[in-house]
Amino acid sequence: MELLFNCKLIKLMGGGTLNSLLCKCVFFVIAVLIIRALLFPIFVGVEWSNNLAYLRKNNSPSFGLGVRQEKFLEVPQIVWGLNNQKIAFARACLTARMLNRTLLMPSLSASLFYKELDLLQPISFHKVFQFDKFNELCSGFVQLGRYSDLMNKTQVLELQKGSGRKWTVERDLDQLRQYSKGSFDEYEVIKIVGKNPFLWHDHWPVKDYAKVFECLILVEEISQEADKVVSMIRSVGSQSKGNNDHQSFENVPYVAVHMRVEIDWMIHCKKLEQRLNTNQICSSKKEIIERVGNIEGLKSKTQVVVYLAVADKLLQNSSVLDGWEQGFVPYEKKKLGVEKIYSKYPYLIQSAIDYEVCLRSDIFVGNSFSTFSSLIVLERTQKMIKLGGNSLCGSDVRWPSFAYNIQGELNGPMKWVTNMSDSSLQAISYGTNHISC
Ligand SMILES: *[C@@H]1O[C@H](CO)[C@@H](O)[C@H](O)[C@H]1NC(C)=O
Ligand SMILES: *[C@@H]1O[C@H](CO)[C@@H](O)[C@H](O)[C@H]1NC(C)=O
Ligand SMILES: *[C@@H]1O[C@H](CO)[C@@H](O)[C@H](O)[C@H]1NC(C)=O
Ligand SMILES: *[C@@H]1O[C@H](CO)[C@@H](O)[C@H](O)[C@H]1NC(C)=O
Repeated sequence: MELLFNCKLIKLMGGGTLNSLLCKCVFFVIAVLIIRALLFPIFVGVEWSNNLAYLRKNNSPSFGLGVRQEKFLEVPQIVWGLNNQKIAFARACLTARMLNRTLLMPSLSASLFYKELDLLQPISFHKVFQFDKFNELCSGFVQLGRYSDLMNKTQVLELQKGSGRKWTVERDLDQLRQYSKGSFDEYEVIKIVGKNPFLWHDHWPVKDYAKVFECLILVEEISQEADKVVSMIRSVGSQSKGNNDHQSFENVPYVAVHMRVEIDWMIHCKKLEQRLNTNQICSSKKEIIERVGNIEGLKSKTQVVVYLAVADKLLQNSSVLDGWEQGFVPYEKKKLGVEKIYSKYPYLIQSAIDYEVCLRSDIFVGNSFSTFSSLIVLERTQKMIKLGGNSLCGSDVRWPSFAYNIQGELNGPMKWVTNMSDSSLQAISYGTNHISC
């Protein structure tokens, strides 16, 4: 058994009481999981055993011997949408992990990438996500360093990433292997030059990305803004029910819909549909409203608060609030009165707040060809797995997600969970209609 082996290894390597204590703790946790599985045989389905394997693997990095703290990897500024930036960041982390190096804290971009480089507004990672928390949560797996940690700034080796069709996944991997050995490995800093890390070849399974995402915790200021928005949504939900019991409004459920109906998305998705020969990517406003309205269990409710996450600036027509069936009470930022919260911040932070609001919703509905939606579903799937439910696709799960671009039961949207055992993040970065429910 993998774990037993790890513990023995630690002991062989002279691990003291701390390590053996750690081993005992892990055995205890595993024992609890096994006992639980025995006591509740219903849970022991394929999904449950997959989840167990996922949890175990996910925890194993803490048994690792750590990442070198005196060798660094430097990457170019990270660009594009919030979630492309998150994927790019994770890819940079996993590249550093492969080279057994600490990643020098990269710059993100506060504005959306419009090719004009001077408008990119670099923003340091630690202005958005907690730096120390990241290193704490990802300890032994990947590490972030500061430029002030460098000993000798002259020892920098440039690694030129290739591009184009001839630059295959295998060549990219070979290059990384080469740079993790011999004289290359002696340099204090390896600096990757080339395009945005989001476009680098992918060599890592979904669970490795998920592990990095788990360590990304928003800084207090931003998460408090998200708290405010979530409270607003829940409180309008409670008022529209005529419920004056202020103590209970924290529990008023809401549905979040990531509505992609802006002009530029519509143009992009039509092209994509043509290229992939499908009609399951673009959904009109009408189709979204209809499918959300058909979600099982919602129809019987008297009032359902729906938060519409829309890119307001790109939306030419704000009629997204019209056309909802009776019982559905749609809100966007303006109607909710939270525009002021958002307008204080640049694009990246606004997007991070919206992400958080969707993440915490009781039901999330998005588009499976959107990176934003896909990462939310990935995080919600992780939450579900941690709760240890019996079936991720059942009808009474906590944190359910749906894709409105694919038709599911009763003309509703399709149930959606991320396949954590997928061997690459490709599906999430570029969209898919195989959504594993
Ligand atoms: C990384 O380097 C550390 C320190 O040299 C070493 O103990 C560890 O085994 C290395 N990790 C990997 C994955 O090679
Ligand atoms: C930094 O590295 C360069 C090249 O290896 C070396 O010549 C120089 O003496 C080093 N400086 C310090 C302060 O270690
Ligand atoms: C917005 O769209 C609706 C229906 O699609 C249409 O009736 C309305 O005229 C549009 N409004 C504007 C300002 O374009
Ligand atoms: C999840 O991914 C694995 C590995 O690619 C694959 O074998 C499995 O069939 C997928 N599961 C689902 C439900 O799509």
